[in-house]
Order: sequence, then C-alpha cells, then structure tokens
Amino acid sequence: MIDPFGRAIQYLRVSVTDRCDLRCVYCMSEDMTFLPKNELLSLEELDRMCSTFIELGVKKLRITGGEPLVRKNVLGLFESLGRHLKTGALNELTLTTNGTQLAKFAEPLRAAGVERINISLDSLDATRFKTITRWGNHAQVIDGIRAAKAAGLKVKINTVAMRSVNEDEFDQLVDWCGAEGFDLVFIETMPMGDISGDRTDQYLPLSLVRARLESRWTLTAIPDNTGGPARYTRCSETGGRVGFITPMTHNFCESCNRVRLTCTGTLYMCLGQDDAADLRTPLRTSESNAALINAIHDAIVRKPKGHDFIIDRRQNKPAVNRHMSVTGG
Ligand code: 5AD
Ligand code: SF4
Repeated sequence: MIDPFGRAIQYLRVSVTDRCDLRCVYCMSEDMTFLPKNELLSLEELDRMCSTFIELGVKKLRITGGEPLVRKNVLGLFESLGRHLKTGALNELTLTTNGTQLAKFAEPLRAAGVERINISLDSLDATRFKTITRWGNHAQVIDGIRAAKAAGLKVKINTVAMRSVNEDEFDQLVDWCGAEGFDLVFIETMPMGDISGDRTDQYLPLSLVRARLESRWTLTAIPDNTGGPARYTRCSETGGRVGFITPMTHNFCESCNRVRLTCTGTLYMCLGQDDAADLRTPLRTSESNAALINAIHDAIVRKPKGHDFIIDRRQNKPAVNRHMSVTGG
C-alpha cells in the first residue's frame, strides 16, 4: 500500500473500543456517550480486518482504544493475531494502554507475542493523577506498570505535557523512567473532540519542555525510530531515551506511515482530518475479502498530505470533532 505521496503504509492502529475506565481531562468529558455495543466490530471481525491489512503489507499493529483492555475477551484477539508474528508476516504486535488492567494482563500479553507496550502516565503524584484522570487510582496503574516490567515487556511511558498541571514533574519523570529502564515520550495536547474545557490553557509547546529539560539533563538527538512519530534523544545522566511527539509545533506528517481503524470499522487516513472510509460494509457484505481490499485501496489513495491542527484563542474549537478515544491516538 503506497499512498499518493509515496509513503508506504505499514502501520495500522486499531481501536477496539471507544470506552475507557478513566476520564482524562484532555481526552474526555466526564459524561461521555459511548457507542452502543452492537455498533462495534466483533473480535472475529477485528481479526479479519487486521489480517487483511497484514496481507496488504502492514508490518506493525497497535491495538488501542479508548482503553483496549476493558474490551471483553480482548486477550483472545491478541492471541489469535499472534499467529502472524509466528509466520513473520507481522513484525510487531503492540498496544497503548492506561495501565489499570495490566497487573492481570501483562503476562498473557507477553505470552501472545507482545514485546513492547505504551503506557499513559501523566503524573507520579497520586492526588494529581486523580485530578487528571478523574477516576484513576495511581497505585493500581503503578502496579500494572511493574507487572509489565516483570513480564519482560519493554515499557514506554507516554506523558501528555500540560501547562500548570504536570509541568513541574518532568525532571522527576525523566529520573524515574531512567531508573526503571523505561522510555519516556512527551506528547503535546491535540485539539480532538469536545472536552468541556479550555484547551488553550493546557497547551504547552514541547520546544519549551525540551529547553527546560536541557537545563538539567544532557539530551542528545538519536536517530532511533520506533515506527511512530516520536523524535528521540538519549539522556546521558540516566542512559534512558526521552522522546517528543510534537504534532502542533512540528509537522510530523511527511514520514507518516500509518492509518487508523475505529472500533466500528471506519478507516481514518489521518489523525487530524475528517475524511474516512467505511470498511465495515464491505467486510460484512461478503465472505470473501475482495470488496474489503478494494475499499482499503480506494481509501489509501485518499490519504492526505498532512493535518491542520491549530490551537489558538480565536479558534478555540477542536480541529476534528471525534475524540482521541475513537481512533486511539
Ligand atoms: N492530545 C494529546 N494526547 C492525547 N491523548 C489522548 N487524548 C489526547 C489529546 N487530545 C494521549 C493519551 C495517550 C495517547 C494515546 O494519547 O494520554 O497517552
Ligand atoms: Fe482513557 Fe486514555 Fe482517554 Fe485517559 S487518555 S480517558 S486513559 S482513553
């Protein structure tokens, strides 16, 4: 699958549910309306979708949500997709999670072939964690992170950088992740979905975060590319990797190799655009995959050059109406 700008599409992110057991302030409003369960693709349909994309050249698959581990029987999906790792058709099966269920799932995920895992953690302070996630229990997530480490999973911590919310703990996060052997990636807040609050107050450019970190740590740019949009540095003091995802201040689109499938079977060709393709209809109308494959090819040729996110005070509306939990970041 090659898009019109010559980018080979080898990375599929699949949201398996729009639901979550947390309500992070930058992601959701407290009273979210979720999709009725009968709208969702079944786990068998998700497997068929993923397997078709793998047949078409996808090498890396990331399962996301919402919170993927709250989807009933999701482990069965990982176990069945693991077969593509064994044949070598797929290079990597991974997930993004908030960590709340990891104490239970870390071992079986590792057994299914997952080697690396992204865990969202915006604060090391229990009270603050609660404020950010509204419903979260910090100790439970830390237990989950430890379980992931103990199971032999390589852990990457994702931290959304927020002005006046967690900006005073970034040094501590670098320190802690370095000591634990975790990668740390900072993310800028993206204007996605109505969150019943003002995003301009939260927005903190990572250029600033990086400059501040560099007054304490020696960060050397390294070329490591994990297939995602993060730019990495090595921290000399801790030996750990510190990455930055800067959708707002830096246009990361030129090297975009990914597309996103929602839990209802809608394919988004870009995180920051509304154009989408319905893959559920071709999936359901026939037992053969021919119609689905055609629909995927038609979608890939519509992949846009880039997004147009902008957060400013005049235009304080989300750039796209869907929440991050629909496409899973
Ligand atoms: N802007 C930036 N990051 C977000 N995330 C969720 N919503 C947003 C947003 N609007 C983050 C989560 C998770 C990752 C998948 O995306 O915290 O770490
Ligand atoms: Fe849930 Fe992740 Fe959204 Fe937080 S950011 S509410 S953990 S989906």
